[in-house]
Amino acid sequence: MSTQQQFNKSTAEIYKKISKSVPEIEWKIHAPLIEKINKLKVEKNAVILAHNYQTPEIYHGVADISADSLALAVEAAKTSARIIVLCGVHFMAETAKLMNPSKKVLLPDMSAGCSLSASITGDDVRLLKQKYPGVPVVSYINTSADVKAETDICCTSANAVKVVESLNVDKVIFLPDQYLANYVASNTNVKIISWKGTCIVHEKFTAKEVEEVRAANPGIKIIAHPECPPDVINASDFAGSTSGMADYVNKNKPKKVMLVTECSMSDNVEADNPEVEFVKPCNLCPYMKKINLEKILSCLENEANEITIDKKISDAARKSVLRMTEIGR
Ligand code: 13P
Ligand code: SF4
Repeated sequence: MSTQQQFNKSTAEIYKKISKSVPEIEWKIHAPLIEKINKLKVEKNAVILAHNYQTPEIYHGVADISADSLALAVEAAKTSARIIVLCGVHFMAETAKLMNPSKKVLLPDMSAGCSLSASITGDDVRLLKQKYPGVPVVSYINTSADVKAETDICCTSANAVKVVESLNVDKVIFLPDQYLANYVASNTNVKIISWKGTCIVHEKFTAKEVEEVRAANPGIKIIAHPECPPDVINASDFAGSTSGMADYVNKNKPKKVMLVTECSMSDNVEADNPEVEFVKPCNLCPYMKKINLEKILSCLENEANEITIDKKISDAARKSVLRMTEIGR
């Protein structure tokens, strides 16, 4: 079989898996790009790390590893590839660079931001530390390197409670997501001083919407991301990080499920669980959706959009991320 035939065969296998969520007409555009990216990443010794919110043609088509933000940080540290292409948002690419500074880390669209990350600056954290002297700062990984440099320890939605409790203190400053802070506060006795950040995707869900879906679908399992408002989490059966949500479906195989989160998440988990029925009210993350196959190919071809971080900031920021990865999930 020629190399071209092998590639055609492999993209046909990919399409079989995601055909429910990707129309055939779109696949005709995606398939040649997927072939080119998969060939080029081998030639250039690149690894593609993708967040769970990436579209199915990225998640199932070109990613070497698809995961939540904690696992992306851990995988970035482990890779021996020369280049890391991070298909996700800016703070994820910055974290990959912090974890493995000698690698070339590329982000296919430099304007892929995050409302949480944009809600707080390093200066804001310095002021908070003056206001609450001696109180340790726990920052969500959805923050800039500047904020991480002012932070004692980072966390993700997969380990936030464990990280807070690991400090053995009675009070922490927890930044910047007020809803994740609420979620942590309801699962620990540690006093939480929070910030006013929100995720523009998860803050839109309402408990009414969740209750309506439950009433219309008896027996459904409803799983929410901890960035959702507290009444949405209370109305759900389970809360977890994006990989926690996927694991729940993979292990429990509910007959019917709704993932209260970004839209691509259900498409990606559904491809791995064709026997599970997904009810799909969801909200799109406009930042995650800035990444597409054309931009991945172009940044890999040109080795463009490289992440750089000032040395002083990166040395301080790295410590707070490493301290988190030592604690794990
Ligand atoms: P996870 O760490 O759960 O993957 O979440 C990252 C994120 O940006 C969710 O909105
Ligand atoms: Fe940021 Fe929310 Fe988008 Fe995640 S889903 S990247 S938290 S804006």
